[in-house]
Amino acid sequence: MNDRRRELGSGEVHVWVMDAAERRPDASASGNADHATIWGFVRETLAGYIGKAPDSLCIVKNEWGKPALRDEVLEFSLSHSDRFTALAVSHMRVGVDIEVPRQLSDALALARRFFSAEDAKELERVPDVQRDYAFLVSWTRKEAVLKGLGIGISGHLNQLGITCAADQPVSLLGTPWNPEIAKHWRIVDLDLGHELHAALAVETTAMPRIVIRQEATAADDRPG
Ligand SMILES: CC(C)(COP(=O)(O)OP(=O)(O)OC[C@H]1O[C@@H](n2cnc3c(N)ncnc32)[C@H](O)[C@@H]1OP(=O)(O)O)[C@@H](O)C(=O)NCCC(=O)NCCS
Repeated sequence: MNDRRRELGSGEVHVWVMDAAERRPDASASGNADHATIWGFVRETLAGYIGKAPDSLCIVKNEWGKPALRDEVLEFSLSHSDRFTALAVSHMRVGVDIEVPRQLSDALALARRFFSAEDAKELERVPDVQRDYAFLVSWTRKEAVLKGLGIGISGHLNQLGITCAADQPVSLLGTPWNPEIAKHWRIVDLDLGHELHAALAVETTAMPRIVIRQEATAADDRPG
């Protein structure tokens, strides 16, 4: 097992990236991450911060499925897509989402169905060739916030106003159900390599320090 004993500063978020094809090359023909591989990685990594055995951690889920450590003051969020898993760990509430790039059948139709009218209109203005990319950027930002809040996406994606332009700073414009949310959450696009779309939401008013680590190869620090 890698040495993952970590100190976590109060304004820090550590984002770990695990490639199942590297961690368990023999595990599956597709290389996709299975549940045991994902949660083995999650438990080992969290245990490294807490100083306990991975199997001894008590992980519970809220009514919408958000996992949390029952007995520890440590926040985390995970996301998986194909071979990859991202795990964000912090003392602040966090949400992370990753998506492998893919061609969408109709990004505009998806946006009109799931996003707010304003956000769908913003996507209409994006040139055709960039639209799938912009949709996934927008999707990961929204999902990161909803996972940070712990409420999941159903019924909420269309209630978040989040700028989707890839070349502009990300801001959360608020929500009808809680306009105050915009003041308390920062959303950051992450460069996790592997061409992944990735976004992180952090409950803080200051810019967090983000440290990215590749699970298999250990040390790749990129302050954010
Ligand atoms: C959370 C959610 C957005 C994840 O979507 P996804 O893109 O398929 O999955 P990701 O890979 O990004 O994230 C999956 C992980 O998010 C975590 N997760 C699940 N629900 C979550 C929630 N409400 N908030 C934060 N994280 C959540 C889980 O750990 C999950 O991994 P696991 O299945 O291995 O335990 C989606 O499943 C959702 O909206 N769930 C809510 C469902 C709901 O409202 N249920 C009500 C009770 S029926």
